[in-house]
Amino acid sequence: MQTHSLPPSWNLAQIFNDLDQSGYALIDDAYPQDYVQALVAECTAHLNEFRNAAIQNGVVSQIRSDHILWLDSSLPVAEQHTQTLMALAEQLNRAFFLGIKEVEAHFACYNAGEFYALHRDNPQGKNGRMISCVFYLHEQWQADWGGELRLQDKQGEWQIIAPQPNRMTLFQSDLLHEVLLSKQQRLSITAWLRSDPQLW
Ligand code: OGA
Ligand code: MN
Repeated sequence: MQTHSLPPSWNLAQIFNDLDQSGYALIDDAYPQDYVQALVAECTAHLNEFRNAAIQNGVVSQIRSDHILWLDSSLPVAEQHTQTLMALAEQLNRAFFLGIKEVEAHFACYNAGEFYALHRDNPQGKNGRMISCVFYLHEQWQADWGGELRLQDKQGEWQIIAPQPNRMTLFQSDLLHEVLLSKQQRLSITAWLRSDPQLW
């Protein structure tokens, strides 16, 4: 196991309690500003490489209209984030025996008018995704810009989570959720903590 450390401001007891009780947790002001700026710069420098997320194996789905770029070693600033998530996964494994073995992640860009309709990240528990982690990268977000994450928590309550800059939302990948239509460009990294080795 690697030894990457977690930001000292993260309140793990609170995060784990929220995940346990509600199936989701928020980490606000997740990273120092200099790291956030480096991450935003890396994301925006690669925007022309993002591809339409709705097209998979040549098949177009109507469920989402965002654009994505999978992370790899050519995106070193973002890879630090996935290493931090791996360190978090190590703690989650200790607390909840989730058996997380790896992190997969992509940048996502929703341009004005784009959305991701109601879905689960791990339907029927088939793909090994245990925890979804979304970190928001745009410089600001105003209340009337839409683009909220709407999530049904473990108690069945619907939660509306604004994509605040420097906020990370963690949630169980089996929970139903959607990204409401965004009126501005909305940038994020979506990551999944997985319990199985990636098969593709
Ligand atoms: C996803 C997703 C939520 C968000 O990428 O699967 O649901 O707030 N993202 O971006
Ligand atoms: Mn999702």
